[in-house]
Amino acid sequence: MNLKEVLKMADEMVFAKTGQHLDNLQEAILRGTMQGEKYTKIAEEIHCNESYVRQVGSQLWQILSEELGEDVSKTNFRASMERFQVSIVSHWEQHHNQIGSFNICGETLHSPDIPNSHPPNQETSNTKQPQTSHQDLSEMPELGDFYDRTSELQTLTTWILQQNSRLLALTGRLGIGKTTLAVKLVQQIKDEFEYVIWCSIDASHTLDEFQHKLIQFFSHSEKQDLSPTNPKRLPLIKYLQKYRCLVVLDDVHNLFCSGDSAGKYKPECEEYRSLFKQIEKLSHQSCFLLIGWEQPREVTQFKNPNTPIRTLQLKGLDIAAGREILRDYGLEEIDNSEALIHRYEGNPLWLKSVANLIQELGIDATELLIDDTILLPEDLKDVLQQQYDRTSEVEKQVMSLLAKENQPVHLAKLLEKGQISSSDLLNALQSLSRRCSIEKEGSLYTLSPVLKEYIKGF
Ligand SMILES: Nc1ncnc2c1ncn2[C@@H]1O[C@H](COP(=O)(O)OP(=O)(O)O)[C@@H](O)[C@H]1O
Ligand SMILES: [Mg+2]
Repeated sequence: MNLKEVLKMADEMVFAKTGQHLDNLQEAILRGTMQGEKYTKIAEEIHCNESYVRQVGSQLWQILSEELGEDVSKTNFRASMERFQVSIVSHWEQHHNQIGSFNICGETLHSPDIPNSHPPNQETSNTKQPQTSHQDLSEMPELGDFYDRTSELQTLTTWILQQNSRLLALTGRLGIGKTTLAVKLVQQIKDEFEYVIWCSIDASHTLDEFQHKLIQFFSHSEKQDLSPTNPKRLPLIKYLQKYRCLVVLDDVHNLFCSGDSAGKYKPECEEYRSLFKQIEKLSHQSCFLLIGWEQPREVTQFKNPNTPIRTLQLKGLDIAAGREILRDYGLEEIDNSEALIHRYEGNPLWLKSVANLIQELGIDATELLIDDTILLPEDLKDVLQQQYDRTSEVEKQVMSLLAKENQPVHLAKLLEKGQISSSDLLNALQSLSRRCSIEKEGSLYTLSPVLKEYIKGF
């Protein structure tokens, strides 16, 4: 349904109930709601007091709720109207040979039960969805301490709720805090969606199984027979179009090959490519948030703000948040905590690992930090190995070249070394950047001190 159709239908409902057509403010509220805007934004656009806009909005939802026979709110308005349209069309299909008429979006539909161009509530109530938002967050981890990340939360919220981005990639090194950030985000915005599901991607699930799981979740409330032979079983995209859904896919790196460049699908996971393509290209009102230290290439390569795709590469925590983490290990008193946080790049998992070692051994952290010592506790090595093992042979060679250098290395110098062909070298640099394994500034490349230390250990 487009905006014009929705406004026309809402106007008919309000007129049927109050004898008055939508006024400018009511229309602005509906228009803003359809565009995913908050009341604050709507109020700004029409230069009106926000609390007054909220009050008029709330009266409007009340009128529409009574007309539709279900609780309509700013969050579910669009979906309610769409469900109503679907129900009225199917109703008409069942009774098309009888008299009576109802005008929907320019089409005159006939029904004996719909006099005065106005549907009685009972007519639609038997096809209604439950009003509560449906959430399956059983695979979502619990949120522990949470520091910093205000701007990242703001960015993601804007992309999802205001810009209606359909496909979001949250990327960054293992342990940087992607999952934690996403949990916080979901807690904050979940009520803006009719369906919210968190899935951890397990490579052993075929796309078919994964889609089946989602469809089962979406259609649960519709009490449908889900057997593959049931002709009424809708394809996944239909649910994403019909409802406003938030689907979080964590650990998407499990879809990609080890030992190859970043984001290459495993043969058995190739089909996910077309799912992500559909989510990007087809019109719908839902959002997929992909979390992982590798992302599909077709997602990360998009930098165009006109596409419904966005990528956020997560960096480390700030100094204050890093100190909070050290405080949890009784290390708040050390003089050069800032140097320690910098050395471990604000990566909360790295910081926790090293703080734990310092605490357990009772080492004097201040003395330890006088020179550039980098401690690599065994659990941190395991974490680094997981990512290192996934890189290709050429990427490993490039990292080893960078590990020997104390300063950032110019691309020209890497090419000069002549050990790797220029095309392989450039591909490897691109892949390593996508994995966040190297830092790039202009044509200068660096490896983080922690990774250098790890690679030197071979
Ligand atoms: N913002 C944060 N505040 C406090 N601790 C955090 C924060 N982000 C992550 N952590 C901690 O760091 C560790 C790694 O976080 P996680 O979200 O699992 O990383 P990722 O998903 O990027 O691998 C976890 O122990 C988590 O509790
Ligand atoms: Mg994670």
